[in-house]
Amino acid sequence: MLKGKNIILGITGSIAAYKAAYLIRALVKKGAEVQVVITPAGKEFITPLTLSTLSRKPVISEFFSNRDGTWNSHVDLGLWADAMLVAPASVSTIGKMANGIADNMLITTYLSCKAPVFVAPAMDLDMFAHPATQQNIERLRAFGNHIIEPGVGELASELIGKGRMEEPEVIVKVLEDFFSVKQPLEKKRILITAGPTYEKIDPVRFIGNYSSGKMGFALAEACTRQGAEVTLVAGPVAMSVTHPFIRRIDVESAEEMFQVATRQFPGMDAAILCAAVADYRPSQPSGEKIKREQQEEMLLKLVPNPDIAASLGALKQPGQLLVGFALETNNELENARGKLQRKNLDLIVLNSLREEGAGFQGDTNKITLIDKEGNVTAFPLKNKQEVAGDIINKLATLL
Ligand code: PMT
Repeated sequence: MLKGKNIILGITGSIAAYKAAYLIRALVKKGAEVQVVITPAGKEFITPLTLSTLSRKPVISEFFSNRDGTWNSHVDLGLWADAMLVAPASVSTIGKMANGIADNMLITTYLSCKAPVFVAPAMDLDMFAHPATQQNIERLRAFGNHIIEPGVGELASELIGKGRMEEPEVIVKVLEDFFSVKQPLEKKRILITAGPTYEKIDPVRFIGNYSSGKMGFALAEACTRQGAEVTLVAGPVAMSVTHPFIRRIDVESAEEMFQVATRQFPGMDAAILCAAVADYRPSQPSGEKIKREQQEEMLLKLVPNPDIAASLGALKQPGQLLVGFALETNNELENARGKLQRKNLDLIVLNSLREEGAGFQGDTNKITLIDKEGNVTAFPLKNKQEVAGDIINKLATLL
């Protein structure tokens, strides 16, 4: 299961760092490629020479190579990896991972990593039990990381309790089990629309809306995490994607989004329409900047844009699934059910601007899922990554 897998092994300052040598040997034996990234404190416990000899690769520790000044790209490393394993994970590294404190190469690599991350804590029993540590571990779990619980036994302090890093063979088994499970969206092709659309009034003005693209981009990331290939049609947003399985197509107007979405949809297993598409556009955008002096009052004539969701609903073939969103301000459930039916959707994600923390721009959302069979599931307020996970889990069951 590990043959050909690229694994970043993050090593931190802990007496259990010696076990990393056994870990590397076991992973290499199973056919994995191992790239060690070690923190400065980690090097006090085990030498880079030992690690590079076992992994057959130079060990990375600094942002720049001391020898020739070349930059160690944490972004490239994050993309290269099929998995990242932090073992041993000290209390300090866990805290930095949980709070995004990017002061060493291991943490920047972790923050850039798109692959699943496994964390094997190692520390004294009281440090492990401390609420600060437990909260940080919970935070890491909430981000989707896999925590390999430490074992109970004699610790470096000679105290006995929970905090020993799990044995290398058990950690290897966890990775093997993970890779042996088929990912729910493996080989599925998913179209996602995200962000706002801009409808030109003149060369300097447009009609737009507050969508940031955060929800749609979180969905794209969540789909790739479950093995899907994503085509992301993005309106004008200041967001970036780096995952190799996300193909991004940038558009500006509803008409452009419509053209791309209808062209792409026939090759897809599913589409998730998260974009906030303008329903109307100026009928005759001016080729030149409209001057204030020209008129006391300005009347804009608007014409309807194509409804992308309804068009894909009409194009939908058996085996294809269509997920829409409903952004409401009143009569939420009724309006969402109406859109589900009119647009021939299989699932609709309702978010209401009446709920605090839901909707545009923020990092959180509060959704209710309504499927074709009429099942209604309301979720609490969560961050948009977790919300995306809930939507994708439902989609995976429908697919
Ligand atoms: O981008 P963020 O800042 O993170 O904000 C996320 C969000 C609030 C934009 C998102 O969660 C959301 O609700 N997206 C849908 C917004 C919307 O346009 O809702 P609607 O109820 O007006 O449209 C219903 C459905 O039809 C949506 O799936 C929409 O994409 C689609 N539609 C609407 C109009 C149109 N011309 N074509 C469409 O495809």
